[in-house]
Amino acid sequence: MEILKHAHSGLRWIVLIAIVLAIVNAIGKTNGSKPFGEKDRKLGLFALIFTHTQFLLGLILYFISPKVVFSGIAMKDSVLRFFLVEHISIMVVAVALITIGYSRAKRAEDDGKKFRSILIFYLIGLILLLAGIPWPFQNYGAGWF
Ligand code: HEM
Repeated sequence: MEILKHAHSGLRWIVLIAIVLAIVNAIGKTNGSKPFGEKDRKLGLFALIFTHTQFLLGLILYFISPKVVFSGIAMKDSVLRFFLVEHISIMVVAVALITIGYSRAKRAEDDGKKFRSILIFYLIGLILLLAGIPWPFQNYGAGWF
């Protein structure tokens, strides 16, 4: 439990960095001025893989964490409600958007559209991830790592 929790906590940084790298890499290329090469594909793919791994770790935690209580009582406690409902809901949407961004980029015909798909979907996904993370200053009892 503790090791999984720290893996989930620490992996957030790798997820965030990977997504930021994919986004930054796509900036300025949505007009099709640059070819979408192997490096670009890999940056998008690594961000997707780390995000999915984090999602799976979270899913396991969801069923073993003491902070997830399957009871109506949890809805009256802001910390329990956060982990039962809010954290998972926001993250499901964020992960779905990043997955859509990746697969649209894969399917897109021209290179500008590939970059645009990564840029837009990963950016919205990133904003949701940042909003859904229990930051230490929010009193959810979570840490930095
Ligand atoms: C994919 C993006 C996600 C990110 C970036 C993320 C990030 C985090 C972070 C930073 C914590 C605090 C860990 C700590 O220091 O105590 C946490 C806790 C937790 N997350 Fe996630 N999470 C994600 C997805 C999910 C999903 C999809 C689920 C559930 C299906 C989930 C379930 C949990 C649970 C249950 C805890 C509380 C663990 C505990 O302290 O007992 N997470 N998450």
